[in-house]
Amino acid sequence: MQNRIAAFKQHVRAEAANPDFVHHKWFVQWHLEIVERIAKELLEVYPQADPDLVEVMVWLHDYGKILDFANEYTKTLEAGPPKLVELGFDPSFAQKATDYIEILDSKTDIDKAPIEVQIVSSADGCSHMVGPFMFTIWHEGTDKTFPGKTMEELMVMNKAKSEKDWNKKVTLPEARVAFEKRHKHLLEIAGELPERFLI
Ligand SMILES: [Fe+2]
Repeated sequence: MQNRIAAFKQHVRAEAANPDFVHHKWFVQWHLEIVERIAKELLEVYPQADPDLVEVMVWLHDYGKILDFANEYTKTLEAGPPKLVELGFDPSFAQKATDYIEILDSKTDIDKAPIEVQIVSSADGCSHMVGPFMFTIWHEGTDKTFPGKTMEELMVMNKAKSEKDWNKKVTLPEARVAFEKRHKHLLEIAGELPERFLI
């Protein structure tokens, strides 16, 4: 299993480095590797979860975005299973991982989803609060991903993304406790200022 997982990770790394992918300069280091680290820490808390399934889901959850930015969700569902089977994964495992990503992408009732979905969803939502992820919207905002956006429009987008992550994706209590201050800080960066800065 570990060889197959390593092969899939290698494949995703190569695809994510394609200059046609808008986030190719930073996506592996500042997104996928951070999602993986947080997911592995959550696995320590939830030993009943399948660690192989979680690891594959980490590297699968944005596969469609990397391959076809405009059709990210359908692309993951279409391209995920055949690529995993080509790399030697059992077809039923490949389909399960993809079905679980479909649940994750629905951002609906994630708190009732299988634990592997909650781990990857929570890790994904938390990862956006780590490193330069949110600032890439600013960095790329003037040219590639969001051309012509004003600073105020970018702030509104960052706030909406932060709130969607926090309210729909980050379900596991360990993740919510650990990341609550980061979440509030991001909202502040997006313009939600406290009444007072000191006590
Ligand atoms: Fe992601």
